[in-house]
Amino acid sequence: MKRVLMVCLGNICRSPTAEGALRALIEHHGLTGQLEVDSAGTAAWHAGKAPDPRTQQHAGRRGLDLSGLRARQVQIEDFYQFDYLLAMDASNLAELQAMAPADGRARLQLLLDYGSHSQSDRREVPDPYYGGEQGFEEVLDLVQDACEGLLKHLRQSLNRAHTL
Ligand code: 4NP
Repeated sequence: MKRVLMVCLGNICRSPTAEGALRALIEHHGLTGQLEVDSAGTAAWHAGKAPDPRTQQHAGRRGLDLSGLRARQVQIEDFYQFDYLLAMDASNLAELQAMAPADGRARLQLLLDYGSHSQSDRREVPDPYYGGEQGFEEVLDLVQDACEGLLKHLRQSLNRAHTL
């Protein structure tokens, strides 16, 4: 079992999108039970809320239903319970690094570290909250691409663990 936590600022736009995108791939590949995904925000402002309506609408057009998700803040237990904490941008990553306990086991990285060559100049998922519709499409493009690469990586690491 490998567990992934997607992390952004508010947990209502980017990280729920990433959670939904990875979950869809996990289900598509029949890996439910071997891979788990959740999401959280470094800020608590939107705790308990469903994803932003714009996020839900754009994701819905790509077949991702995010309506059941509820925002929560990152907590210290996450550093012990997850294998990967994947930040959407450099400031989310810096927040995670600042709060990480010395004996936490989660790997802290940017989600776009797993992006393909076509997106390789992009390291961060831009915050779409104060922008226009195109920003939400860009989030989906970047996040869905990186989740494909992430899934490949996770399958390899599950296979390695299996053969040890
Ligand atoms: P997210 O986007 O971090 O992708 O969920 C944001 C949501 C809300 C705010 C900022 C970013 N906000 O300032 O309330």
